[in-house]
Amino acid sequence: MTEHQNIVLIGFMGCGKSTIGSGLADRIGYRFVDCDTEITSMGDMSIPQIFETYGEAYFRDLETTCIRQIGKGTRQVIATGGGAVKRKENIQALQKQGILIYLEATPFHIYQNVKDDQNRPLLQEGDKLAKIQSLLTEREHIYRQAADWVVSVTGRTVNEIQEEIIEKLKER
Ligand code: S3P
Repeated sequence: MTEHQNIVLIGFMGCGKSTIGSGLADRIGYRFVDCDTEITSMGDMSIPQIFETYGEAYFRDLETTCIRQIGKGTRQVIATGGGAVKRKENIQALQKQGILIYLEATPFHIYQNVKDDQNRPLLQEGDKLAKIQSLLTEREHIYRQAADWVVSVTGRTVNEIQEEIIEKLKER
């Protein structure tokens, strides 16, 4: 692995980007950066508050500003929001000095992780599993296209997933 590169985790809400990413950062001595956390501190509002007050388009603008900023750094493990890949410019900013890893999860695995969660505005209305399935169908090909590597997370422990990523990094 080139020393200065970032490791960028992409994937659907609830696939484990933050949990896997923060532990991974500790293990390889990188800084952990969570895009959603950065956005909330930038606007001093929670994500549901931002969506409710200003709408999704405004949130996406904050997300792009944030990614542009974060993408310039080095030696970071970056957990992106699940919708960050919706804008090509976000992907490009992250690819400039990062390896993009798609954490692939089944809809049911995602559902298990988010079913009681109130913090994801896009999953608050209607049948959660159906919403996950339709959004994932919309986005799946974008995650795959953007990714340098795809790592499957369903049925595996956080430790196993981190190990796989660390092994892949050593092979580079
Ligand atoms: C979103 C994912 C969320 C957050 C926002 C929108 C999405 O991040 O950015 O609620 O569009 O998929 P997580 O993937 O960290 O839940």
